[in-house]
Amino acid sequence: MPRKIVVTGGNGQLGKTLSALCEAGAKPAVLDVAVLDRQQLDITDSIAIASVLGSLKPECIINAVAYTQVDKAESDSERAFAINETGVANLASWVAANGGTLLHVSTDFVFDGKATRPYTADAAAMPMGIYGRSKLAGEQQLRRLLPINSAIVRTSWLYSEYGNNFVKTMLRLMSERDEIGVVNDQVGSPTSTHSLAALLLTMAHRQFQSGIFHWTDGGAVSWYEFALQIQREGLQQGLLTRKIPVRPLTTAEYPTPARRPAYSVMDRRRTLSRFSCPRTSWEQELARVITGLKQQN
Ligand SMILES: NC(=O)c1ccc[n+]([C@@H]2O[C@H](COP(=O)([O-])OP(=O)(O)OC[C@H]3O[C@@H](n4cnc5c(N)ncnc54)[C@H](OP(=O)(O)O)[C@@H]3O)[C@@H](O)[C@H]2O)c1
Repeated sequence: MPRKIVVTGGNGQLGKTLSALCEAGAKPAVLDVAVLDRQQLDITDSIAIASVLGSLKPECIINAVAYTQVDKAESDSERAFAINETGVANLASWVAANGGTLLHVSTDFVFDGKATRPYTADAAAMPMGIYGRSKLAGEQQLRRLLPINSAIVRTSWLYSEYGNNFVKTMLRLMSERDEIGVVNDQVGSPTSTHSLAALLLTMAHRQFQSGIFHWTDGGAVSWYEFALQIQREGLQQGLLTRKIPVRPLTTAEYPTPARRPAYSVMDRRRTLSRFSCPRTSWEQELARVITGLKQQN
């Protein structure tokens, strides 16, 4: 019998990538994956959880649901916590009562960004805003309710061909405007949903381990440096037709409702040593997503 997996948040960038991976046959043949969007399973609704998961009986759940609007969360705290904390607790409670494992995705925003070297999974979390606090609260609920049969994969600067993300925004602005400014004093590691989805399927398939793991595509770049590479790759692959000036900005010059960590690079060495996942490079993953975007056009 194939191993039954349920993916929640099927309409998000990670959910869509997991769905596409499965449709393309990239998942192991021994997995039977059901990808559910919000309409099919709202994780804030524990009655729906009992009914939907009760009939699917998954051995593993990959939770790709989140309230991800970092700035909006500052004025919408209740909803952010309902999804990022209570929703996770609902899933964890169901698994605790019915068996199986829960793979949950979290964020670099649980850190305050004051470090000067990559954060290990054991580093103290100290979120600066509502989004990070709500995600940390979800992690804590998961570890409390399901300490053995759960794993948390923290990732950062996630992008893909789907939904809204920095890469797609940059490509759009670079084709619409004559000049753009991008923040140069926040440093992190870009991560494609493809490498994250591949790791999650590996964990769901045969390499489950409980604990907290960090996953990125390596590197430590500012948003400005990331934008320059997006421009280079966009020009090279013909998605952009002209080069415009990109100006480095300070965070003070680009104020946002939510404060962001100045440095959120995460150490992925433990993940690389524990699971059979490739040592991806952010430049190569970016090239892959830009190729995907070109094919969509
Ligand atoms: N995006 C990033 O840069 C980033 C960085 C670090 C970590 N992460 C983490 O990575 C994970 C995946 O992020 P993502 O970028 O793929 O997020 P996303 O594109 O914003 O997708 C989130 C999905 O969650 C769904 N959702 C929201 N509330 C729900 C509920 N109550 N029940 C069921 N579904 C619900 C949304 O549904 P609708 O489509 O119906 O709204 C959406 O499809 C999240 O845990 C996020 O915190 C993201």
